[in-house]
Amino acid sequence: MIRTFRAPGRVNLIGEHTDYNQGLVLPMALDLATFVESAPNNTASVFVHSEHYKESREWPVDAIPQLEPVGDWGDYVAGVARELVRAGYRIEPRRLFIRSTVPEGAGLSSSAALEISCALALSFDQSVPPLELAKIGQRAEVEFVGLPCGIMDQYVSVFGREGTALMIDCLNLERQYVALPSGVSILAVNSMVKHSLARSAYRDRTEECAEAARCLGVRSLRDVSLTAFEVAAPAMPEAARNRARHVIEENERVRRFAVSNDPVELGRLLVESHRSLQHLYEVSCEELDFLVDAALEIDGVHGARVTGGGFGGCTINLVREGCEAGFTEAIQSAYRRRFGISPAVYRCVAAAGAGEIAPV
Ligand code: GLA
Repeated sequence: MIRTFRAPGRVNLIGEHTDYNQGLVLPMALDLATFVESAPNNTASVFVHSEHYKESREWPVDAIPQLEPVGDWGDYVAGVARELVRAGYRIEPRRLFIRSTVPEGAGLSSSAALEISCALALSFDQSVPPLELAKIGQRAEVEFVGLPCGIMDQYVSVFGREGTALMIDCLNLERQYVALPSGVSILAVNSMVKHSLARSAYRDRTEECAEAARCLGVRSLRDVSLTAFEVAAPAMPEAARNRARHVIEENERVRRFAVSNDPVELGRLLVESHRSLQHLYEVSCEELDFLVDAALEIDGVHGARVTGGGFGGCTINLVREGCEAGFTEAIQSAYRRRFGISPAVYRCVAAAGAGEIAPV
């Protein structure tokens, strides 16, 4: 019997580059998602086909524990398969067919959507506990694909809930559902660029944060208050100091965002987050800064910032209800004039987390 599994992408409202520092994040799952159809295979292999790449991969089930990355899309699937086996799950010969509506390289977590949907499809009758599923997805990315990411993307892909955002405390992995602000829409604008620096810079930032924590004598940047940081800051190397300031202040912005329903304050927090990512954390780029600056000139925009890892991908924009069409038109034409590219605009709707789609 063919079974279909779905896992969503996400936008992060606020709390950027805090997850691998045991901090707070506030993402929501999107109605953009990856779908995997899973059918029995009559050889002793897992066969995977990607509609997007128009390519297939095949691994003998017995070889899964020894798989190594080769540097393409198949690594996300192979990594999940290997991590499932390492965690004690059984993988049966299956044929997987993957299709996705999450744009790649847009900072909307197409990789987590792929990992989680495949983890469900490969483990399909074994009911992996949800938190374990998120951790297996993260481990596939960290240990197999080789990006030392935090757990935000996989976590929200699993635990997302229709109509709400999700605050995750990455220190203890507890979660709290947070109502979305009323009277506003959240629109993502895709810069349509992804600079090649993104992966190496991400790794550099994780190392700089670890160094900052060492300077401060704490296990992670979550363990230091702003007051203690201010005392130690003058003696810290500049990069470590700036990265730490961003993380510590960003956690505070998440707390404030989660309890506010005032669009003006929410917008201000988004802009503060962006400026901090631009100047202190240094993960923005010309295109993203332009999108934020241009958005802030448009009628009905309360605030805007980069979402996701940075160096391209999307901005998110908090736009007064009723102003969405004017905003879309204005931001697209401003970006086209400046960069000659037409940016895609997505209306972000908070959708449910991953699961099986009931057969129709
Ligand atoms: C990427 C990573 C996440 C997180 C964000 C930045 O999306 O996968 O774990 O670190 O960047 O907030």
